[in-house]
Amino acid sequence: MLKNDEIDIQNKYISKLRQIISGKKYYILTMGCNLNENDSEKIAGMLEKIGYNKVDEMNKADLIIFNTCCIRENAEDKVFGKLGEAKKVKEKNNAIIALCGCMMQQKHIIEKLNKSYPFVDIIFGTHTLHKLPEDLYKLIVAKNKVRDVIDIDGEIYEGIPIKRTSKNKALVTIMYGCNNFCTYCIVPYVRGRERSRKAENILSEIQELAKKGYKEITLLGQNVNSYKGNGYKEIYTFADLLRAVNDIDGIEIINFISPHPKDFTDDVIDAIRDCKKISRILHLPLQSGSSNVLKLMNRKYTKEGYINLAKKIKHEVPDVVFSTDIIVGFPGETEEDFKDTLDVVKTINFEQVFMFIYSKRVGTPAEKMENQIDEKVKHERFERLKQLVEKQLEENNKKYIGTEQEILIEGVSKNNKNTLTGRTKTNKIVILEADDSYIGKIINVKIVSEHMWYLKGEMV
Ligand code: 5AD
Ligand code: SF4
Repeated sequence: MLKNDEIDIQNKYISKLRQIISGKKYYILTMGCNLNENDSEKIAGMLEKIGYNKVDEMNKADLIIFNTCCIRENAEDKVFGKLGEAKKVKEKNNAIIALCGCMMQQKHIIEKLNKSYPFVDIIFGTHTLHKLPEDLYKLIVAKNKVRDVIDIDGEIYEGIPIKRTSKNKALVTIMYGCNNFCTYCIVPYVRGRERSRKAENILSEIQELAKKGYKEITLLGQNVNSYKGNGYKEIYTFADLLRAVNDIDGIEIINFISPHPKDFTDDVIDAIRDCKKISRILHLPLQSGSSNVLKLMNRKYTKEGYINLAKKIKHEVPDVVFSTDIIVGFPGETEEDFKDTLDVVKTINFEQVFMFIYSKRVGTPAEKMENQIDEKVKHERFERLKQLVEKQLEENNKKYIGTEQEILIEGVSKNNKNTLTGRTKTNKIVILEADDSYIGKIINVKIVSEHMWYLKGEMV
């Protein structure tokens, strides 16, 4: 079946459901990464076309959706915890419970859900998200429980309705899946092989966003810089795509996550240097600073290779800073290996570090490795890394005081309704006093103080 035909079929289900569903409410909880956030925006888009309205409290919902993540055990535990809460809402409101996302692509999870959580009405996976209207129809009209998970590499469906969370910054998925098979990681098993969207579809989506007033775009992919276009106007590579997005009027800030250091080719570095709209914080996932551990992780670079890459980027683009992901306690990680990680953190002086304790994932090569690290040791190393990172964060924050920064004002601060919040080009949160008319605008702000997780600024 043609992919467009599939979306037409879903549109027919949307029309049929629209006649039955009116004034019903949905609640969606999204776990995991930006890719899941973007998927949830598509789920919300389909549901609102059907006639559902969004609510922020689960107990008011007629339809509860959990879009799940399985990257670490605690993400999975959270779902099982929340299911108890959802069951109570079902007993009270007769709410429909639907589960989707990465966790659903694992056989042992489906078995556990079917056995111990039979009250879940709909389960769909990462490759069948576009079929939610059909799944809902089958449940509501045909009264059948739905289990719609397939284990293929997935197709790319264009034209799924979308309800975006923000009015000034937008997520745009450009490629799906991963071919790298890092030995700790579940993603290649739950998101399938790499496949890229056509450049023409990506660019027309971003042009539309620019017309609607969006200023900031985040290009997404599990392995974003291994994007391979299809030759539309000679856009073949990730670097070509970056340059084409940079040329779109109205778009002011371009981010991309998550790249792999092995695909950080010279043409990508040149594009970052030449395209001034590209954010000056680059995410360069390190995972470990030890060449031994990196080999066991199948990361395809060494400690020195990583440092040299960061230096090369910094040489070409001097105003760039880096963020990273680090896993502590990978099987076999010795004290010496861990010290190598601390050493790289000191050398690169990251602006932001996302730190994780290694979590065993069913079916990955690392699950079966000997020398799994004792929980106590993992936590102790995590604390040591955290201390170093926080010290560096404070020192880096101080460098901002007195400087002028261009900030995209995103909205009103969560904690203080009298202040606005925005971000610097290096992704630092800035809080300032100004009126709402600045929301969605890019303004110059002088940084006056630092507070660990955010900076305070004043308009200039
Ligand atoms: N345990 C801990 N952290 C993990 N990550 C991926 N898999 C695991 C795991 N099994 C981290 C990596 C990745 C980030 C998104 O999550 O650092 O870059
Ligand atoms: Fe979690 Fe990975 Fe799925 Fe994102 S792609 S939701 S991080 S498992």
